[in-house]
Amino acid sequence: MLVSAKEMLIKAKEGKYAVGQFNINNLEWTKAVLITAKENHSPVILGVSEGAGKYMGGYKTVVAMVKGLIDELNIDVPVALHLDHGSYEGALKTIEAGFSSVMFDGSHYSIEENIAKTKEIIRIAGEKEISVEAEVGSIGGEEDGVVGAGEVADPAECKLIADLGVDMLAAGIGNIHGKYPSNWKGLDFDALTAIKEATVNMPLVLHGGTGIPEDMIKRAISLGVAKINVNTECQLSFAAATRKYIEAGKDLEGKGFDPRKLLAPGFEAIKTTVKEKMELFGSANKA
Ligand code: 13P
Repeated sequence: MLVSAKEMLIKAKEGKYAVGQFNINNLEWTKAVLITAKENHSPVILGVSEGAGKYMGGYKTVVAMVKGLIDELNIDVPVALHLDHGSYEGALKTIEAGFSSVMFDGSHYSIEENIAKTKEIIRIAGEKEISVEAEVGSIGGEEDGVVGAGEVADPAECKLIADLGVDMLAAGIGNIHGKYPSNWKGLDFDALTAIKEATVNMPLVLHGGTGIPEDMIKRAISLGVAKINVNTECQLSFAAATRKYIEAGKDLEGKGFDPRKLLAPGFEAIKTTVKEKMELFGSANKA
């Protein structure tokens, strides 16, 4: 069932757990995440960046693939198909194509322009009951080729955006995409506490889920984080498993030329990563 992320995040916030957003890049990736969600009875959010959408053949292709898999594999847990870090135009296109959730990332605009554009996306998405995520304070690291320094969001600005009626809010609290540098100071829990107090019931989103120590993840959930995004960790586990298969010379045994064989270890590796995250985030058995 393709659903908006609204209800699953309200439940997660109340139940003090977080739903994982796992970014998808191809058929194997998508299948691995969906099957793992089913096996672990967990709600799940499939994240699609604009670059990944283009790579997979366009947003309509992604919608058709995900809907087809849900149907044919009897995926009986709530699944949201979510645009990750969307531009204004990207959000409009994915709403049109049939995504059930969108992120409009207006963090690089002035707060006035971020508000104006977010309002418009909320209005258009609302007509189709599509959930909306907004971002305040850019999240560092690399987002689809764009490298941001990462900043801590201003709680007053978070309140302004939350009050527009978004369903979830990504606020920068020192988190970054990709691997964390060895001198990383960790998540800013004082900022998170202030943002939680300013935005009250708003489900908060933690981007850059790869490489955050488990105790910090748990503390963030206790302070209102209801959605955690993971991308790089799936990429690393997929790549490592594929490399191991090739280095073992399995592809040279002839059968390795079959993509079904070549991509199988990566598929299993993503399943393992996603299962571990669902257990850590507490979303297993919550569907
Ligand atoms: P990582 O790549 O660090 O896991 O972050 C993913 C993310 O936040 C996608 O928006």
